[in-house]
Amino acid sequence: MKVNCLSGTKDLKAVWYEDKKVFMIDQRKLPGNIKFVTFDNYKEVAKAIRNMTVRGAPSIGAAAAYGMCLAAEAGENIATAAEVIKSARPTANDLFYAVDSMTDSLEKGEDPVAASNAYAQSMIDKCLAIGKFGEGLIKNGSEIMTHCNAGALATVDVGTALAPMRAARDAGKDFFVYVSETRPRLQGMQLTAWELMQEGIEHAIIPDGASAHYMSKGVDLIITGADRIVSNGDFANKIGTLDKAISAKYYNIPFYVAAPISTFDFSADTGEEIVIEHRDEREVTEVNGYRIAPVGSKALNPAFDVTPANLVKGFITEKGIFTPDEISKVME
Ligand code: MRU
Repeated sequence: MKVNCLSGTKDLKAVWYEDKKVFMIDQRKLPGNIKFVTFDNYKEVAKAIRNMTVRGAPSIGAAAAYGMCLAAEAGENIATAAEVIKSARPTANDLFYAVDSMTDSLEKGEDPVAASNAYAQSMIDKCLAIGKFGEGLIKNGSEIMTHCNAGALATVDVGTALAPMRAARDAGKDFFVYVSETRPRLQGMQLTAWELMQEGIEHAIIPDGASAHYMSKGVDLIITGADRIVSNGDFANKIGTLDKAISAKYYNIPFYVAAPISTFDFSADTGEEIVIEHRDEREVTEVNGYRIAPVGSKALNPAFDVTPANLVKGFITEKGIFTPDEISKVME
């Protein structure tokens, strides 16, 4: 099914609030089904973040903001709600940034609905700015590689890594995107490819293990998103990002990370301080509920890895593009 949605100009978003309920696209059902789910209390929102009904750092942040809104509207204890929502997943800085930002707004007496809507809208605005700054990196004929899903689904709308691609397409450029499938949850194949299909952007899905092969043949540019970027420029992103960054260095391919300020964590000095989420091993050993691994073999399932700053050419933010050495300028 082809739908006009999630392009930065349409009504449909990855997560939104209406009539005292939080609405989400159930991202676990894509691309086969566009299913909407609604939640009327913050504990369900925290669960939806944990089970990845909603995923991608800025969308997780917006969902968290709306969860805080539900808690405030219901007269619940805000500190307890903040704690429960923050415990949903450990790695994406946006989750913590959003809860703290909503806590501040509520303490100032702001209207919960207005504050959470403003938070979600600010993510879209930041992504549009990221698109504007990143578009210049894409030339006519560029071959680009991306990983996981850092598109509209991951950011309420528009995307981070996909924002420059949307902007380049709007500027009339022709280019090609390699989409790595992103084992084990397949966000690249099921979500990024789906978004690029909706947008009419030429692309091909590749197995994760084929990334270096295609880089050796002439990829021009790599753009990924991030879940947490720390003071020295190390960053966490979906497992497999580190392999791509190392291969990109070998083949001299510029590696860019697109992210809004909500993803930067200046309280941490280096990537060693980033908490990496480890998810259920069945995400690795099972497909559609059927075990495909030998009975008795255990699996390891880190959801993220940390890429060192020296493999990054630049961070594409809503304030411009910065090298790892310039990272503190993001806060100016
Ligand atoms: O586990 P997920 O699907 O939430 O992980 C998402 C990613 O790693 C994205 O690349 C990242 O959040 C950036 S989203 C703009």
